[in-house]
Amino acid sequence: MSNVAIVTGGTRGIGKAISKKLKDDGFTVAAIYGGNAEAAKACEEELGISAYQCDVSDVEACESVVAKIEADHGGVGVLVNNAGITRDGAFHKMSADQWKAVISTNLDSAFNMTRPVINGMRDRSFGRIINVSSINGQKGQFGQTNYSAAKAGLIGFTRALAQETAKKGITVNALAPGYIATDMTSGMKQEVLDSIVAGIPVGRMGTPEEMAHMVAFLASKDSGFITGAVLTANGGQYIAA
Ligand SMILES: NC(=O)c1ccc[n+]([C@@H]2O[C@H](COP(=O)([O-])OP(=O)(O)OC[C@H]3O[C@@H](n4cnc5c(N)ncnc54)[C@H](OP(=O)(O)O)[C@@H]3O)[C@@H](O)[C@H]2O)c1
Repeated sequence: MSNVAIVTGGTRGIGKAISKKLKDDGFTVAAIYGGNAEAAKACEEELGISAYQCDVSDVEACESVVAKIEADHGGVGVLVNNAGITRDGAFHKMSADQWKAVISTNLDSAFNMTRPVINGMRDRSFGRIINVSSINGQKGQFGQTNYSAAKAGLIGFTRALAQETAKKGITVNALAPGYIATDMTSGMKQEVLDSIVAGIPVGRMGTPEEMAHMVAFLASKDSGFITGAVLTANGGQYIAA
């Protein structure tokens, strides 16, 4: 098996914690970032990993960055499709740009990044693909038709690809985090956050490290019997069937 892991959005927030955990677990980590070069450089220095700039919504850029990572480090064994954005708004006021930005960054990106790594994984008969979905892809969320659609789409992608790749030793799973303390949620109004936390039975938001722990579990070579699963980590806020 290859111990090269790509983490998209791997230099900030949940992705940075995933990069750290996979590095600690012995993987060679290539973290992809969108535009925040300062955070990427700081992450490289702090974690001792490599960072690569790539817009995950751009299919050709993803093909190029995977080729570069494979040339630098070797074939990819683990892909974590984590990069994501929000562009919230009630649907009756949502622009086509808000819709397209979220669908292309959060959902098209899974095709754009997975397609260039899948044949190498098939050839090596090993792979771990982990797609970071969301509680709001499971239950829907007011003001997030775009985000909820993209994150629900990732769950469908996970379940279909898991069936196609199972015989090749490649597992495909999704993680559905609840509300996690990162830059993505720090931009929310305090009263909105307070009302959300009031509805979380464990009484707090989750941490990026808790999400990284679950991704590392799915990435392990010992997790070969788990595929097509959606692991929920939301403090009991939404308990899906
Ligand atoms: N935080 C939560 O409560 C929560 C809950 C459920 C699910 N999630 C999901 O978890 C994932 C990580 O969220 P987070 O809270 O850690 O977000 P974050 O702190 O805002 O970090 C987002 C990361 O994604 C990267 N990114 C964004 N657009 C990109 C693009 N077009 N191309 C490449 N990279 C791009 C960013 O790169 P730059 O640093 O260059 O900007 C950054 O590294 C997302 O998919 C999010 O939807 C988050």
